[in-house]
Amino acid sequence: MMYVKSATLISFLISAFIGSSTVTAQSLGKGFIFNCDDPGVVALTFDDGPGPYTDTLLEYLDKANIPATFFVLGSAAKAYPDVLKRTFAAKQNHQIALHTYSHANLTSLDAASQKKEILDAADAVAKIIGKTPTYMRPPYGECSEGCGKVMAENGFSVIQWNADSNDWRYKAKTVEERRAIPLQNIMNEVKPKSPAKDNFIVLQHDPDDISVENVVKFIQLFDKAGYKFITVADCLKNKVTPYKGVPAKTAKAVAANGKFADFKAPDAKTPDAKAKDPVAKEPKEPQAKSKNDVKPKKDEENKAEAKGAFPTPNDNVGAAKDGPEANSASIIKSSALVSLLSGAVGLLYL
Ligand SMILES: *[C@@H]1O[C@H](CO)[C@@H](O)[C@H](O)[C@H]1NC(C)=O
Ligand SMILES: [Zn+2]
Repeated sequence: MMYVKSATLISFLISAFIGSSTVTAQSLGKGFIFNCDDPGVVALTFDDGPGPYTDTLLEYLDKANIPATFFVLGSAAKAYPDVLKRTFAAKQNHQIALHTYSHANLTSLDAASQKKEILDAADAVAKIIGKTPTYMRPPYGECSEGCGKVMAENGFSVIQWNADSNDWRYKAKTVEERRAIPLQNIMNEVKPKSPAKDNFIVLQHDPDDISVENVVKFIQLFDKAGYKFITVADCLKNKVTPYKGVPAKTAKAVAANGKFADFKAPDAKTPDAKAKDPVAKEPKEPQAKSKNDVKPKKDEENKAEAKGAFPTPNDNVGAAKDGPEANSASIIKSSALVSLLSGAVGLLYL
């Protein structure tokens, strides 16, 4: 009996420990950004888009009336140019930033290829929104010393994160788990912190229906905990302008629209016209004009390419470092273990 109780206690403590370390491996290069400047703010950031669910995300951000930051892929921007335009044009002043052209692991490339990845992304985005982003996030958080140097030399600031939903890790799990685990991961980050001292740069991915659905709960969680919402550039007080050659201006963090506290996301698994047929909303883009331009691929090929960039198999290389499966399993179990533990503690002291 006693043995069972201590085993429970030990496994609870282990799972609580693992569950709390949800900030994944990322390069800690000189000058890289992991935090905002001021306490009490949260910058929601979305990588790998634009994608078929980005419009739904824009609706949620509009309902909450808060800004976010999008680290987009050049290839995905080409596949969803109108989604990117809508993101940039939204009245919440979302920030557009870069995530390379093809979701390359920059650490594995030579300097010339690192430069090409970021400049191609910048060029693809500039062609669509008319401005060149200066903030970038390296795929997998991987940016070696050489990569950091290439980014700095070319005028890009490297933005990492300090709260990871780890949303992409649970693709093979049930919908319920994909809803519960990323929320729990973020709760583990928020709970021990306070808006009087702390701030967050949160990592999520928008080419994922459940991640987008989860954003509603994330916003409500941060709102209830007393945080205000802000873009990355604004949370860094625009020390670096978010777009090349554009004067920096600072916008304050904003509270979520009060009505959003009760907003319920429609079930992402319920087919809705937009999610079912995102392509139909995309008008045809003008084709490349210059003969130097690469012959444009068909929309479908582009979409497949952009989709392939959303990390699953390759990211597992990085994932293996932190043992994500142990992590997720223990989080799922920990709530059950809490009840077990309280029972065990109760027995010990009776
Ligand atoms: C990226 O490349 C570096 C160098 O080859 C390697 O050590 C690292 O594990 C790779 N990361 C991922 C996520 O593949
Ligand atoms: Zn990514």
